[in-house]
Amino acid sequence: MQQPSFFQNLTGMTLKFLPLAAVIWVIVAWFELPRSASWGFAGVVMMYAFLLSLPQRKKTEISFGKNLGFKLPIVLILAGIIWVVAEKLGFPIWWQIEFVAFSFVGLVYFLILDSKALKPEKSKLTSTFRLLTTYALASGLFITITAQLPQFDPQHEIEKLDRPPIKLSGLAGPEVIAAGREVFSSNKCFNCHKVFWEGNSDRGPNLGTKQIGLYSEDYIKEQILEPRKIQSPGYEDKKSKKAMPTYYDEDLSEDELNALVAYLKTLRNPTVMPVEGKFPNQWTWWDDPKIIEEGKVVFEGLEPNTDGLNCAVCHGKDGIPMMTGALDFRNAENMDTDKMPDQLVGVKMEDWPDSLWYKRVTRGVDGTAMAPWGLMFQHLYLWKAEAYARTFHDPLDARTEKRPVPPIPTKEEIEKWQTDGLFLDPLL
Ligand code: HEC
Ligand code: HEC
Repeated sequence: MQQPSFFQNLTGMTLKFLPLAAVIWVIVAWFELPRSASWGFAGVVMMYAFLLSLPQRKKTEISFGKNLGFKLPIVLILAGIIWVVAEKLGFPIWWQIEFVAFSFVGLVYFLILDSKALKPEKSKLTSTFRLLTTYALASGLFITITAQLPQFDPQHEIEKLDRPPIKLSGLAGPEVIAAGREVFSSNKCFNCHKVFWEGNSDRGPNLGTKQIGLYSEDYIKEQILEPRKIQSPGYEDKKSKKAMPTYYDEDLSEDELNALVAYLKTLRNPTVMPVEGKFPNQWTWWDDPKIIEEGKVVFEGLEPNTDGLNCAVCHGKDGIPMMTGALDFRNAENMDTDKMPDQLVGVKMEDWPDSLWYKRVTRGVDGTAMAPWGLMFQHLYLWKAEAYARTFHDPLDARTEKRPVPPIPTKEEIEKWQTDGLFLDPLL
């Protein structure tokens, strides 16, 4: 009988393996793993099809040294490629190590394939004995390694379960906030949301740099209980839309939810504008057309949530001051007021740091009509009005590039905001 050609072999094998690849593909899609994982698994399956269809070589026994000398360099190169590709695809370091470890397991496997055949066992007993010792050795190795890894502590988990449910009555501010942080952490919110520097992934918005604390309690509650209703800007893609779990209204008690919201309300940054979008495609409110549009409504006194606030009454609807002494936002060369002890000297308005805008608008200018608006109105709307005010000297359509997204503040910097008293009381 004629041997089938390599090509016939390959077609036959591919056809046999295709259904398997398809099933794996569907499973991967089912678990919503990244598309790269589907390609990876399908690739591995098709690689097997390819290897199995290679013409069979005549078996020759080679020495262990030769065997190793031929295969080790290949595996080393392969491990290098796997390492780099895994890093490029954004796998965490432990996954990279695991992938590379697997390629070495493969090496052992392929070494055994080509090593000398063992002599037939003399008796049934010795073969059973060898089998058992191999099994014992492998299990021992496995147990020894896993014993070194961080352990699941049942006592700790039981304590968590036994803990009485959070009761808000009788708790003061800081305790409620701490309890809310605990709720955030135990409900795995950190798996998708960073809070400034802390957290595990960027699947959802960084609730610290986004400054979720600027939003009303009702808005935050709604976003947790009905996450499909309003999508976070920059998270409109299909996967992000479905990512946030919808079961929190069943999982969280009333008190837990209130504590969680109390914690989230503290997430603000008095030194820079809020940041939107999915890392790394992010932008700040300075360059957000929608925010600037909303800021115009606030600036002109038309926002129902800031009833009574009207920047235009003094600063002018077109930026032409209506009140003598009110800052002219059209002039980029303006300097900071000399009426405040913490005057910023020598910096033009076009270069003012976000923190100066925020400080002046929330605390006002002593002894002038520029009142501490931050004691009366929600800061969410004040930041928006500031973004709009800046367009008088820096029109949105004349900008050639966006302002850089500020670096994520460190733990020490965040603590310093508290000790330096950068937050107002009450924090609106
Ligand atoms: C599996 C990932 C995942 C988990 C877990 C998760 N979220 Fe989200 N969350 C997202 C994504 C993605 C978005 C953005 C898309 C959207 O708005 O639904 C989001 C949006 C939000 C928003 C709205 C942000 C905005 O721009 O207004 C809030 C608030 C929020 N999550 C809070 C939480 C809290 C609190 C928890 C834990 C109780 C949690 N999330 C758990 C993925 C997650
Ligand atoms: C009742 C009048 C009035 C209203 C309303 C008002 N301002 Fe002012 N604002 C002033 C005056 C007057 C000054 C100048 C203070 C001084 O002498 O330096 C000023 C100064 C400023 C400055 C410059 C502070 C500095 O560092 O020199 C900013 C920024 C500013 N206003 C923003 C706003 C914004 C934004 C709003 C609306 C949320 C607003 N103002 C509402 C009167 C007003």
